[in-house]
Amino acid sequence: MKHKLKKFGFILNRKIPVDKFLEKALYEPKVGYYNNRIPFGKNGDFVTSPTISNLFSEILAVWIISTWEKFEKPDTFNLVELGPGDGSLTKILIQTFRKFPEFNKSVKIFLYEKSNLLKKIQKKKIASDQINWIKNYNSIKKGPIVFFGNEFFDAIPIKQFAIKNKKFLEKCYFLKRNTLIETYKRASSIDISKIKSFNTLKKQNFVEFPKLGFVELNKIIKKISAQSGGILLIDYGYLKSFNGATLQAVRKNKKIKMDNLLNHIGKVDITYLVNFNLLKEFFEKKNLKVKNIVTQKFFLETMGIIERAKIIEKNMNKQQKKDMLLTLKRLLHENSMGELFKVIFAHNYKNNNFLGFE
Ligand SMILES: C[S@@+](CC[C@H](N)C(=O)[O-])C[C@H]1O[C@@H](n2cnc3c(N)ncnc32)[C@H](O)[C@@H]1O
Repeated sequence: MKHKLKKFGFILNRKIPVDKFLEKALYEPKVGYYNNRIPFGKNGDFVTSPTISNLFSEILAVWIISTWEKFEKPDTFNLVELGPGDGSLTKILIQTFRKFPEFNKSVKIFLYEKSNLLKKIQKKKIASDQINWIKNYNSIKKGPIVFFGNEFFDAIPIKQFAIKNKKFLEKCYFLKRNTLIETYKRASSIDISKIKSFNTLKKQNFVEFPKLGFVELNKIIKKISAQSGGILLIDYGYLKSFNGATLQAVRKNKKIKMDNLLNHIGKVDITYLVNFNLLKEFFEKKNLKVKNIVTQKFFLETMGIIERAKIIEKNMNKQQKKDMLLTLKRLLHENSMGELFKVIFAHNYKNNNFLGFE
């Protein structure tokens, strides 16, 4: 075990903040979860909407085209997929965009991916000269930019804090031989003042703070402010304030107890639930507009997923229809992804009437 932990760069008998621990567990080159396996799909550890159904991606394509229209059909329209996973979403986007020649001429697609392994998988799946893989946004020089990510934000490590008698303590892990011990250290004054600046986090005695996620969003917002555009995020998350930890480890669609994490390190995904009101407050502080946070069900249904399903079922046999109904149920049902997943769009365009949110 000691040897294994060394490969991740962990140092034993020292406190490591939760976000630093997660960064290594998930993204350490070669051994981190996202760098050593393909987690998605039926035989993977979890399924995501684009790997469940092409309908999800088609509807997102329709939303993107409608957004280009709202932006008054600019000649150059940049799209950046954040964390494209196995490339399923962009593959269908490209196919759908081809049916809309005027839009297809304007669109430039960029993929922003951290994992070298997933980048390889994406390149295999979507070999197209329409696509560029980027490490930063510097090469996108003109035209509005729309960023979008499905389950991107919840894959970025978070910090956790406990607040006791007005004192802020940062949660850490202490690695002792084969065990992961939860412990705390005094929070930094920078982190404390950041947390205190958000109304959404007031009155909580346990806070999950997406510090690294906000670093990513700041880079995006800088680009949006310079060139105009927006960011659409779809994630598993909540709206009612939640005063506790949501971090969870998942392997083969089953939860793993956090105290058993070390046995599964590198083989288990670790995510948290996104606090959507915090995201909204963050975007609005940066002068972006947010109309509404809606559920995945609301977004997909408002954008016409049912109507689209009715059209394509005309050419399906009985079994195909049955399969499609099942996947639709998964995407839309209240107890499934329909309500658990939320959608937010933040932008700096003069009008705030983008489709899918009312
Ligand atoms: C949970 S997966 C979602 C994949 C895909 N969007 C889907 O819905 O199937 C998270 C994705 O975000 C990527 N990712 C996480 N943090 C990132 C970062 N800071 N920069 C770029 N990609 C990142 C992961 O490598 C992975 O591709």
